[in-house]
Amino acid sequence: MKTVLVVYHSQSGVTERMAQAVRDGATEIEGCVVTCKRACAADLEDMVQADAIIIGSPEYFGYMAGAVKDFFDRTYDHGHRDPRIVRKPYAVFIAAGNDGSGALSSIERICRGYRLKKVCEPVVATGMLTEEQLARCRELGQTIAAGCVQEIY
Ligand SMILES: Cc1cc2nc3c(=O)[nH]c(=O)nc-3n(C[C@H](O)[C@H](O)[C@H](O)COP(=O)(O)O)c2cc1C
Repeated sequence: MKTVLVVYHSQSGVTERMAQAVRDGATEIEGCVVTCKRACAADLEDMVQADAIIIGSPEYFGYMAGAVKDFFDRTYDHGHRDPRIVRKPYAVFIAAGNDGSGALSSIERICRGYRLKKVCEPVVATGMLTEEQLARCRELGQTIAAGCVQEIY
């Protein structure tokens, strides 16, 4: 059985709805279980246990949410040197009012520090969350989970 970790923060619920869609998509794939946690409740052990990591954040002040940064702050020191984490596949989803590039680039920069492997293009939802954006989140979850089960990463 493969495990996909979805780690996210959300203040007003948009990123949370995206996280639920990612989780639902990954859960549809046979042979995969999903651990879906708020960033404040996730830790290094969750990363170690996961076969892939999907990180979701709103953009706040041109950057990732503070809680997501805090997750990285708490896990980076041991995580980036841990051979059980190096080269794990990862993907990102972002909620933003009108941009999202600051949150995305800051997360991707840190993930390069962990030497995680980017295996999917991000989903960046700007403005009002639409059904089409939620469908892309579900698809992101399916893609990552299916890749893990088929061991293509
Ligand atoms: C404190 C704060 C700062 C924000 N800064 C940005 C920003 O820099 N760029 C942007 O596009 N949207 C910004 N937004 C809008 C949020 O990214 C957007 O509303 C998002 O959907 C919120 O996600 P959430 O409901 O998961 O918290 C900001 C919102 C808040 C509350």
